[in-house]
Amino acid sequence: MSAVGTGADVWTGADVAGAAAGGAGSRSVGQPLLELRRVEASYGPYRALFGVSFTVPEGSVVALVGSNGAGKSTVARVVSGLVRAKAGSVWLAGSEITRWPAWRMARAGIAHAPEGRSVLASLTVEENLELAARALLGRRRSKDALDRAFGAFGRLAERRHQLAGTLSGGEQRMLSLAKVLAVPARLLVVDELSLGLAPAVVDEVFGALEAVRDAGTSLLVVEQHVDRALAMADRAVVLVRGRVAAEGSVAEVLPVVARLLPKRAPVAGSASSSAPHRSPQQPGGRPGRPDAE
Ligand SMILES: Nc1ncnc2c1ncn2[C@@H]1O[C@H](COP(=O)(O)OP(=O)(O)O)[C@@H](O)[C@H]1O
Ligand SMILES: [Mg+2]
Repeated sequence: MSAVGTGADVWTGADVAGAAAGGAGSRSVGQPLLELRRVEASYGPYRALFGVSFTVPEGSVVALVGSNGAGKSTVARVVSGLVRAKAGSVWLAGSEITRWPAWRMARAGIAHAPEGRSVLASLTVEENLELAARALLGRRRSKDALDRAFGAFGRLAERRHQLAGTLSGGEQRMLSLAKVLAVPARLLVVDELSLGLAPAVVDEVFGALEAVRDAGTSLLVVEQHVDRALAMADRAVVLVRGRVAAEGSVAEVLPVVARLLPKRAPVAGSASSSAPHRSPQQPGGRPGRPDAE
């Protein structure tokens, strides 16, 4: 147990509430909230991570990018306790959490929206949200959580009594995200949220992430839309075959991203998309290539 007030054990949400009171734009990027130190992870005999080290400063958005199989989802699973680090250590607000079970990490304020859809098909939209919220907030506070989720995703509000299994793929992914966002988090880890979503839904998902960030939650964002992830990030980590190839401010890592991931996933819409988000500047002589893979 940590005796420090800002320690990792049980997170009450006070930090986020305080930051939210300051409003958007008052974010300040601070001390390391999450820190990975030389983390190794394996699936059976297969090594997936080799000495991965990076930090997520309090109040910041860190984009984790890399090609397929680079180890991004494995990092997300290690951070949320679903995969145990074989060596190295994981720290939250100065407390070591390497060997904590997933439920304890969740209680400490780490939320994880994993790849794919995680909804209970035979329950309604509302029941899915209630279950997720009650587990962490209790019955009384889960009502507010539901209101927040339906406020962020109008499409889900319209379908609150529909069985989750009958939602479209995009709506199911939206519900997966809403389940995670319903409970205020200290650190939100999102893994490929926009995969396969229609452009309008991608915009909605990124809008929801920005609102979470502006309310004071720190984010670790794994995203195939690299340009969009970098556009909302303060820092970025580039993974190559289980190793960190670059870590730094978005401006610092852009040359590495351009070299290693020249073929980016298309920005929402089409190759000529003029999606309303700011694009990070391309390093000299290397224009962005919003072409499909
Ligand atoms: N459950 C698993 N069992 C065995 N190998 C896995 C498993 N999950 C991922 N891997 C392997 O670990 C490596 C990293 O995977 P992953 O973290 O999913 O990469 P990314 O998310 O960057 O695409 C890949 O080579 C992948 O095949
Ligand atoms: Mg992945």
